[in-house]
Amino acid sequence: NKIVLAYSGGLDTSVILKWLREEYQVPVVAFAADVGQEEDWDKVRAKGMATGAEKVIISDLREEFVRDYVFPAFRANAIYEGSYLLGTSLARPVIAREQVRIAEAEGADAVSHGATGKGNDQVRFELTYLALNPKLTIIAPWRIWDLNSRTKLMAYAEQHSIPVPVTKAKPYSSDENLLHISFEGGILEDPWNEPEESMFKLSVSPEKAPDVPTYIEMEFAGGNPVAINGEKLSPAAMLARLNTLGGANGIGRLDMVENRFVGMKSRGVYETPGGTILRCAHRDLETITLDREVMKIRDSLIPRYAELVYNGFWFSPEMKLLQRTMDNAQETVNGTVRLKLIKGNCIPVGRKSEQSLYQESFATFEEDQVYTQSDAGGFIRLNALRLTIQALVEKKKK
Ligand code: ARG
Ligand code: SIN
Repeated sequence: NKIVLAYSGGLDTSVILKWLREEYQVPVVAFAADVGQEEDWDKVRAKGMATGAEKVIISDLREEFVRDYVFPAFRANAIYEGSYLLGTSLARPVIAREQVRIAEAEGADAVSHGATGKGNDQVRFELTYLALNPKLTIIAPWRIWDLNSRTKLMAYAEQHSIPVPVTKAKPYSSDENLLHISFEGGILEDPWNEPEESMFKLSVSPEKAPDVPTYIEMEFAGGNPVAINGEKLSPAAMLARLNTLGGANGIGRLDMVENRFVGMKSRGVYETPGGTILRCAHRDLETITLDREVMKIRDSLIPRYAELVYNGFWFSPEMKLLQRTMDNAQETVNGTVRLKLIKGNCIPVGRKSEQSLYQESFATFEEDQVYTQSDAGGFIRLNALRLTIQALVEKKKK
């Protein structure tokens, strides 16, 4: 009886909006999520109405996104395939969750999105819908219709007088939020092609960044960043500030080929300036605040955690378990890190914490009262016991 569409105002979701109206003949609510992307929301609202929406709802999810999705993932040091900081993966569950809330509030029985049938986003949207309200019917137009090319999409738009953007279409697809901007497809599909400098939006190139370093101090509480240079900031304001600092210093660009959940490899280019600084600072603070064995176990869980996020299992029991474990380890991660930002690099240069496990009295090369060096002899001999026996057996064989 009613459909709520995750709407961006771009060509794809505009065509979908019209197509849903024609195909199902029911009212469509266009829902747009503000997760910190650069956007003219008045234009999105006007365009949604002009394209046939019954209503356009714009939700400001910026604080929720950073506080409840980005920060938890950074408390876990989440990173996919060793490089990707999961900017898009983390935004999908917060958007889909709000969409479910709206569907329930508006009495809609169906939800729809503009992700293609080849990617990760369809999985992330739909796993969230199904985890939160399995009664909703899911409509994924890209998997149903025959408008399977840019040309057909444009033709449909023209036929139905949907305003096609006057600006020349970008030769790649992008997705932006407070954590990152991603670029995929088009001219980037050949992984040998270096992206053009003009594509980048959140950062200058390292070579254009200033030759003098920017020093900052980041304070953490429970693994979350709470202040920069003594100034307390909300989660969204914190990430925005880090983006500015990182972007100005050429920090956080990434060009990689990754493995999509559905099985194919895909080339992606990312700018994650603030997230890159955040991870760098957080890891450094952990070097003095985490126990060695806790860190080892935690580190072994990072790939699993990241894979769950990437594959769309944000709202799953195993994710809950992992997040609790990660957060448990973060209780002692309090303190301050001093960083040097210079030409694409984030370099920790100092760290302190009231809970620091680093004790100069133990580590010193000077004389001390707390450590008996002669104990180390027995420690080494017993650790070597297996090796010694092995050596004796080998010798006897010869
Ligand atoms: N490959 C990245 C991911 O799967 C980015 C996806 C970008 N999505 C988009 N609709 N442009 O998380
Ligand atoms: C899409 O296919 O809709 C975007 C890329 C992805 O989801 O991986």
